[in-house]
Amino acid sequence: MKTIEDMKKDTKEDASKAWTTSIAFSSPEKTIVRGYKLEELIDKLSFHEMIFLVLTGRLPSKGEAAVVNAIFVSCAEHGISPPSITSARIIASGGSPFQAAVAGGVLALGEHHGGAIEAAAKIFQERSREDPAAVVNEMVGKKQRFPGYGHKIYATDPRTIKLLDIAQQHGIAGTHVSFAIAVEKELERAKGQKLCLNVDGAIAALLGDMGIGWRLGKAFFIIPRTVGICAHVYEELAKEKPFRRLDAEETGYSGKDGLHLS
Ligand SMILES: CC(C)(COP(=O)(O)OP(=O)(O)OC[C@H]1O[C@@H](n2cnc3c(N)ncnc32)[C@H](O)[C@@H]1OP(=O)(O)O)[C@@H](O)C(=O)NCCC(=O)NCCS
Repeated sequence: MKTIEDMKKDTKEDASKAWTTSIAFSSPEKTIVRGYKLEELIDKLSFHEMIFLVLTGRLPSKGEAAVVNAIFVSCAEHGISPPSITSARIIASGGSPFQAAVAGGVLALGEHHGGAIEAAAKIFQERSREDPAAVVNEMVGKKQRFPGYGHKIYATDPRTIKLLDIAQQHGIAGTHVSFAIAVEKELERAKGQKLCLNVDGAIAALLGDMGIGWRLGKAFFIIPRTVGICAHVYEELAKEKPFRRLDAEETGYSGKDGLHLS
């Protein structure tokens, strides 16, 4: 797994340059991305393979490509209700430009919406050699929620089942997935209720098994969900009347009334 220290080693530091990067380079003669000519990448790579290369600095194996593609498909869209979609549509409805509405939607992705991938991946990568029961007891004892578990509507998250199935078929599921499944059982024991390994938790475990550092976790939700956000912003602009707002009967006032300035 590449640490930030490894990434620093990958970059040939040139003291004469204010900024250096190991990601890409372009000149009138050639454009190189992660060491490969861009024309060759255009010819030979799928979009998800290109995303893997740009993010991690290496080409995915066949199995990794299948898993990452499945992750992107599973996260691209999930309906109108999540905060990223409602906020993007409201911003578009107010008359802001397309890109402002999309950016607003991305800003609504946070700890409770997509952000659990990073937090769960950190725990899995740092603690998957420990006893899952002890890790769960510690978190439950501190009244902390285990990121990547539980769901508002699913008792079992169907996206998790499919992702783990694809990962098993391609030999990608390893120690992080095993730990994540063990945690699900231990959480049920400790909390007395089923808290399913949700799609964020499954992605987090798969990132660990593909050697992708937890700091990249949010990228694996932001990238695909931006597709859904763009579609919703377009639909809002094309089909809805501007100035979307709650009706009077949907809102209430809970403040004081009848005050006077002395
Ligand atoms: C996703 C989530 C918000 C759904 O919550 P919910 O179904 O509305 O459940 P509630 O927030 O009402 O919590 C109900 C109980 O389950 C517990 N619980 C829910 N998720 C939990 C988790 N991940 N770890 C530990 N306990 C959890 C709560 O502490 C609460 O227990 P209590 O009654 O002892 O206080 C919640 O499960 C959660 O916060 N999960 C962690 C974050 C996460 O993975 N988000 C990504 C979702 S795809």
